[in-house]
Amino acid sequence: MIYAGIAGTGSYLPEKVLTNHDLERMVDTSDAWIRERTGIGKRHIAAEGETTCDLAEAAARSAMAQAHVRGEDIDLIIVATTTPDRVFPSTACLLQERLGNHGCTAFDVQAVCTGFVYAMGIADKFIRSGSHRCALVVGAETLSRIIDWTDRTTCVLFGDGAGAVVLKAQDEPGIIATHLHADGAYKDLLTVPAGISQGYGAMQGKEAFIQMRGNEVFRVAVNTLGQIVDETLQKNGLDQADIDWLVPHQANIRIINATARKLGLSTDHVVQTVEDHGNTSAASIPLALDVAVRDGRIKRGNKLLLEAFGGGFTWGSALITY
Ligand code: UT7
Repeated sequence: MIYAGIAGTGSYLPEKVLTNHDLERMVDTSDAWIRERTGIGKRHIAAEGETTCDLAEAAARSAMAQAHVRGEDIDLIIVATTTPDRVFPSTACLLQERLGNHGCTAFDVQAVCTGFVYAMGIADKFIRSGSHRCALVVGAETLSRIIDWTDRTTCVLFGDGAGAVVLKAQDEPGIIATHLHADGAYKDLLTVPAGISQGYGAMQGKEAFIQMRGNEVFRVAVNTLGQIVDETLQKNGLDQADIDWLVPHQANIRIINATARKLGLSTDHVVQTVEDHGNTSAASIPLALDVAVRDGRIKRGNKLLLEAFGGGFTWGSALITY
């Protein structure tokens, strides 16, 4: 059997930091409210002219260095993003050119905050089929570009960043399983209700920004993530005790803690970066993974449960032996 294993991780955060105190000067909010309701203390914001592909490239190079992989060794590039540089070509193609790779499979995946988990699921299937042997999977976002900085209900939540993994074909798992879901019936609870086909006109106005019915999203997220934890354990014949690390999408500390409780995991087995990064959508899981790999918490042989929930709604999990 062929499996996909993580050979390297990397991440990148833009230099500029926006603290809760900075936001207090921009909208009617407080550091205390943001911390209590979300767990966020600060977030990084891309500089003017700094694009999603710039962040993706920095994260990718870091993961490739750790995996001892050069651009020409990669035969599959998937970038999960909701904030691509261009309508087309895909950010994956822009990244491929920068990495000096010509000819490999390259495309973007759009599943909002679940994008990285979707991309891992797709890359896993490519590698298991035997058609590809070395995949670069990136989650990268410049969400600051689709935020209404006068809307306190959303602007305090999000940040920019990128994370990446290199996956290589190997004889043992690796990625054990991924479970991917969506339900478009929830399309209006979390959305940027503008786009190419609806017309560029709408993108000049307020509608081009993230709109969220936060409280409703919160309730569905907690329930759905509880279910995906059950589904992942059950379908793979595992107990709660088999999971060493929960690496969750970083939207809200209260959602993360609810999922950890569902797993019976104490907080010291949960990778939490929401305090420093905010919600970076598709970038949040690979960012968190890289932080915990590099600081030595996640070790070879550990069993990881990655899970995410986001616009669509989309949700999913990846069960991985690191
Ligand atoms: O990543 C994709 C998935 N996204 C999520 O999972 C996000 C899910 N939602 C959430 O994380 C939470 O719902 C929020 C953090 C967005 C909001 O927290 P909440 O506890 O659900 O607050 P709420 O929306 O019920 O608002 C409570 C109050 C309201 O005031 P009133 O109506 O009670 O007077 C809001 O106007 O808090 C007010 N409020 C704020 N106050 C200070 C909303 N935003 C702010 C703010 N600062 N930034």
